[in-house]
Amino acid sequence: MCGIVGYIGKKDTKSILIEGLKELEYRGYDSAGIALLQNDKIEVFKAVGKIKNLEEKVLQNTTCCTNFDTLTLGIGHTRWATHGKPTELNAHPHLGVYSYVVHNGIIENYKELKEELTLSGHIFVSQTDTEVIVHLFEYYFNQYNDANRSFKETIERLHGAYSILLITKSEPNKIFFMKHGSPLAIAKGNDDGEIYFASSDAPLIGLANDVVYLEDGMSGVASIYGIEFSHSVQWSTLPTNKLFAQKNGFRFFMEKEIYEQKDVVVDSMMGRLKDDTIVFDELTHDILEGINEIKICACGTSYHAGLTASYLFERLSKIRCTVEIASEFRYKEPLLTPDTLFIVISQSGETADTLEALKMAKNGGLKSIAVCNVDNSSMTRVADATILLRAGIEKGVASTKAFSTQTVVLWMMSLYFGTIRGVLAKEKLEIELQTLREIPNSLKVEDKLHEKCRRLSKRYLHGHGFFFIGRDVFFPLALEGALKLKEISYLHAEGYPAGEMKHGPIALADPELFTIALMPQHLHYDKIKSNVEELSARDSTICAISPLPFELSDDFINTKKTNHYMLEFFEMLIVLQLFSMEISVRLGNDVDMPRNLAKSVTVE
Ligand code: G6P
Repeated sequence: MCGIVGYIGKKDTKSILIEGLKELEYRGYDSAGIALLQNDKIEVFKAVGKIKNLEEKVLQNTTCCTNFDTLTLGIGHTRWATHGKPTELNAHPHLGVYSYVVHNGIIENYKELKEELTLSGHIFVSQTDTEVIVHLFEYYFNQYNDANRSFKETIERLHGAYSILLITKSEPNKIFFMKHGSPLAIAKGNDDGEIYFASSDAPLIGLANDVVYLEDGMSGVASIYGIEFSHSVQWSTLPTNKLFAQKNGFRFFMEKEIYEQKDVVVDSMMGRLKDDTIVFDELTHDILEGINEIKICACGTSYHAGLTASYLFERLSKIRCTVEIASEFRYKEPLLTPDTLFIVISQSGETADTLEALKMAKNGGLKSIAVCNVDNSSMTRVADATILLRAGIEKGVASTKAFSTQTVVLWMMSLYFGTIRGVLAKEKLEIELQTLREIPNSLKVEDKLHEKCRRLSKRYLHGHGFFFIGRDVFFPLALEGALKLKEISYLHAEGYPAGEMKHGPIALADPELFTIALMPQHLHYDKIKSNVEELSARDSTICAISPLPFELSDDFINTKKTNHYMLEFFEMLIVLQLFSMEISVRLGNDVDMPRNLAKSVTVE
């Protein structure tokens, strides 16, 4: 998602910022910008798309800040659009009259602040929440003529998540900083007095050794003469390996991506989950006009998210919903009628089968939506509307955070549709919105849980196969658990609806058949319990995942007690992802790049 860099020193600030932003490219972004301050001159450059577009602009147009004997400050940013489209105007740094700011996070009270500042004469040019920060700073500075005090007053007024760098002509040798929510690090450069800022380690490696990872609530001001922190800080040593830094210290990208799910879902919900409703700026209110059915088409993990969503669309939006594997849909001579809303789900937006299915639907005159992680990908260009997942780049071939963000986005869509169709009771909606807010907590990987999965994994390296079983939305989750295991452990696994086992597959049951049973407390617990008992009676080895103790299990993974099945869903998802990853590690496989698989399948 968004990235921040900053620099104080006498080197070529613009190149340092551009190179720093390139190191953050792996996080995904849709526009970028830098601001340079030398004496009383500020220059700002912004560009949509790749960093190289920004780099070209900077190289062609820099007039000031070329004198390396003089101190130059700079701040830079890569933006992944949340409030407002990816345009130059919405790209950071944002300008007041004499100050610039870059920001990661969301200012929840930006509307109130914007109104207040507009009334006192401030003029806003972007659609972003960020712009209020720089205006608020100047509002206070115009009163106090004291930058330190004005910055403090500013951050006290902000609600939400805000990691910020701010520069101002009123104090041309300083960078003001604040960390709350999103990460921010400050490092001492190898040259005297040099200071670097970055939202993750990668831009700092090779340029600095000592770093402070700011804690939430810390702020301060930095100049060539030193850094004043609001709290005492602990300096540590930077890692030296860039790839290691990109993995944030995790062993694999997959592991990092499992752990960051709790953060990326917050980005997926940002600006969409309001106090008492769901808003999708990407959709118009007439989206469901004349629509009687939703058809979802996708492949692989995205198909499982679609299958999960089909339960939610029928339950919460009261619309008939069917889901099809894209490669099957294409050749079945499907009957396409214009009362069907066609939704494709894809992490990459490039999967050939899904893209072709979307084109067929378009040619058939159907309205279409792409639920996708990559802006400007082929599907987003073909579909009538796009809802971005905002998961950041997913590098592990085995998809993890794409699935959780897809499920969150589709769940929100089901609530949005239910609301505009007037079929969702206010009380029900309130419960669902409250539950959405609790998802980050359910996706948090607790050390104890990870350790449990790691220990258990050694008992599941043999046998003649795995059955992952569940009911309702836990059936697609079972399919996803089985797919994860297949993809990276190369062990045979199948996902099954728990109630279907007795119609054939139970014939396979014996101690060497491992059953991974998803037993949520809040969705058909007694039913799934009977199904697992049937398997246990036939001597299958049972690993139960549940918040409720289950005596017949051979192994038991205890999930937290919650009050909603979707919270159980997300915690069980984490368990399944960790479980397959740890089995893969024990088998010595390449977790991030499993054999025979590709991240994006652009052939039929
Ligand atoms: C490939 C990947 C899977 C992914 C599927 C669909 O097979 O290996 O992880 O789920 O494609 O990809 P998409 O980008 O359309 O979600």
